[in-house]
Amino acid sequence: MKQKEVYTPAEDTYLLNKTVKKELKEGIKALDMGTGTGLIADTLSDKAQKVVAVDINPEAVELAEENLATKNNVEIKQSDLFNEINETNFDLISFNPPYLPIKDQKIKEPINKAWNGGKTGKKTLFRFLDQLNKKLSPGGISLILISTLTEPNKVKSKIKDIGFDYEVVSKKKIFFEELMVIKIKNI
Ligand SMILES: C[S@@+](CC[C@H](N)C(=O)[O-])C[C@H]1O[C@@H](n2cnc3c(N)ncnc32)[C@H](O)[C@@H]1O
Repeated sequence: MKQKEVYTPAEDTYLLNKTVKKELKEGIKALDMGTGTGLIADTLSDKAQKVVAVDINPEAVELAEENLATKNNVEIKQSDLFNEINETNFDLISFNPPYLPIKDQKIKEPINKAWNGGKTGKKTLFRFLDQLNKKLSPGGISLILISTLTEPNKVKSKIKDIGFDYEVVSKKKIFFEELMVIKIKNI
């Protein structure tokens, strides 16, 4: 069987997943951006009334469809960020973005999109943040995973620039970096 080129859940996935479990409320409408295997979308589907899960990588979409085949409240599609998502007013949007700064931008395999955050590690995340206000419901939250390698202070300034408040709600030290989950609030 062909091995799919999809991000394997790791410490970052588990930290975000744990935080999503804490913040998740019954009956909400949720979006899992960059779903990969669909693990976080699966957690969301336990309480959400509806979950949309998207990934730019077609192999991730295929795998998430297989993994979540029994979940009737999950819709999975291929999308570059919000491009193919018509719905608005999500109460919770989770995103574990590709956050590593990578100097060589010539690598083209789909799996590269799982961790390659451009030269500064913030390329996809900032594109996501620029569109967030169109998709988050009033009172809604977005949980994003970043690392000390992603220059957290610049990410926090960007969140203020787009008009939202934030709070760091989880942290975990691993090897040479510290992972953190930022809760962005649309208040
Ligand atoms: C670090 S992986 C996280 C995967 C999964 N959510 C997890 O936590 O294990 C980042 C994911 O974002 C996807 N991705 C990268 N750029 C994207 C984009 N522009 N739009 C949608 N998904 C994207 C990648 O294909 C990859 O599956």
